[in-house]
Amino acid sequence: MADAFEIRGGRALKGILEVGGAKNAALPIFVATLIEKGTYHLNNVPDLMDIATLTELLKSLGLEVEKTDKNSYKIINNGLTNLTASYDLVKKMRASFLVMGAMLAHSNNAIVSLPGGCAIGARPVDLHLKGFEKLGVEIEIEHGYVKGTATELKGGEVILDFPSVGATQNIIMAAVKAKGVSVLENVAREPEVVDLCNFLISMGAKIEGVGTGKLTITGVEKLVPGTYSIMPDRIVAGTFIIAAIMFEGTIEVEGVVAEDSSSFLAKLKEMGVQYDITGQRLKILSKLSELKPVKVTTMPHPGFPTDLQSPMMTLMCLVTGNSEIKETIFENRFMHVSELNRMGAKIDIDGSNAHIKGIKEFSSAEVMASDLRAGASLVLAGLKAKETTTVNRIYHVDRGYENLVEKLVGIGADIKRIKI
Ligand code: EPZ
Repeated sequence: MADAFEIRGGRALKGILEVGGAKNAALPIFVATLIEKGTYHLNNVPDLMDIATLTELLKSLGLEVEKTDKNSYKIINNGLTNLTASYDLVKKMRASFLVMGAMLAHSNNAIVSLPGGCAIGARPVDLHLKGFEKLGVEIEIEHGYVKGTATELKGGEVILDFPSVGATQNIIMAAVKAKGVSVLENVAREPEVVDLCNFLISMGAKIEGVGTGKLTITGVEKLVPGTYSIMPDRIVAGTFIIAAIMFEGTIEVEGVVAEDSSSFLAKLKEMGVQYDITGQRLKILSKLSELKPVKVTTMPHPGFPTDLQSPMMTLMCLVTGNSEIKETIFENRFMHVSELNRMGAKIDIDGSNAHIKGIKEFSSAEVMASDLRAGASLVLAGLKAKETTTVNRIYHVDRGYENLVEKLVGIGADIKRIKI
C-alpha cells in the first residue's frame, strides 16, 4: 500500500498559501551542526520527510537531535561518536553526502557512502571530492564508500568546473575551520548557499564574497553555536505563485522574497503576468488568457531554477501558443512530460528541449510523480482538471512540500491522501 493524492479538480480556490522554511537551506544547515561541539537552536525548519531522514543520519553520527515543536529543533553536538555515514542512510537522500565536509571539519576524517544515481540524472560527486583534495584531504574510494583523511585541513584554492550547489556547500563546510585562507571560485550563488554562509557567519566563521561566485574563507579555531532561523522556501513560493496564476488571482502567496526569485519573477513578467508584492505577500492581477508563450532555459542561480521547471511547464500548458523549456542542469528531468501528456497536455521533447503547445484545459487522469517537483507539477494540473486525478508515488512530494494537502484544503481544494 502506498500513499497517493486524490484530487477532484476544477473547484474555485480562494485564500492565502503560506510558504514555510526552505528544505534545501535547512538540510545543509542541519549538517553544519556536525562541525562544532555545542547546542544549536534551529527555527523555521520545514516539517518534512527529508529532515526526518537527515535527523536519523545525524543521530547515527552521535548528535542529539530533538524536535522541540513542529518547526523548531534543538541539536546537541557533544562530539561525533561515529565517523561513517552508512549506505542505508545516505541512499535515502542525496543531500546526505554533505556530511562529508562537516565531518572532515570536525575530525579530519570521514567515511561516507557514495550516494548513487537518482531519477533526474547521474549526479556524481567528483567536484566535491576535488575540492576536498585541494584542502589537503586524501580521498580513497573503497566498496562504495568515500574515505577522506587528513592530518589537518589546510586552506587551498578551488576552482569548480561547474557551480554545483552541493559541492559549494560541502567545500565551504570543510574550509571554515581549515588552517589558513581558502579561495573558492566559480561557486554556486543560490540563496540556499547564502543561507548556509549566514548561519556559519552567525557562529563566527569568516567568509567573504557571500552571494558572489568567489568566496574567501579564513579558517577560524572555533565556532560558537547559537540560534538561527531558516530562509523561506523560494521553490515552494514559486509553485504557489504558479497556482495563483492558474487560479487568476483568488489565491495570495505569503512568504515571497522577491530578490531570491528574481529570474522566475522576471520570466513571469515577460509572459505578461501582472502581480503586486506588499511585504512578502504576492497577489496576481492578470488573467490566464492574457499570457504570452515564452522560452525558459534552466541555469544556475541567478538564472531560472531547474526546481521550478516542471511547475512552470504546467502553467505553460495553459498559455495559448508555443512555449519552450530547455533544461541544462539535469540530463533526465522531463519525466513529468509523459504524465502531463496523459492529462491532455501537448508537449514534445527533443533532447534537452521541451516544446509546449497551449491547451484549453487539463483532463483528469491517474498519473505518477517521478521526483518531488514533477509531483508538484501534476498536483497543479490536477487542481485545474475537472473530475478526479490521482497522483501516485507522492512520497516524492512529501519530501519537499510541507503540509501540502492541509494548505490546499485550506483554500478550498478537494484533495485528500489515499492508500492505493
Ligand atoms: C541541489 O542539488 C538541490 N538539492 C536540488 O534540488 C537542485 O535541483 C540542484 O541543487 C540544482 O539547483 C539540495 O539542495 C538538497 P548540483 P545538488 O550539485 O547540490 C552536476 C529538489 O527538487 N554535478 O548543483 O545535488 C550534477 O550531476 C532538488 O529540491 C557534477 O557533475 O545539485 C548536476 O547535473 C533536486 N559533479 C549539476 O551538476 C558534482 O560533483 C547540478 O548539481 C556535483 C554536481
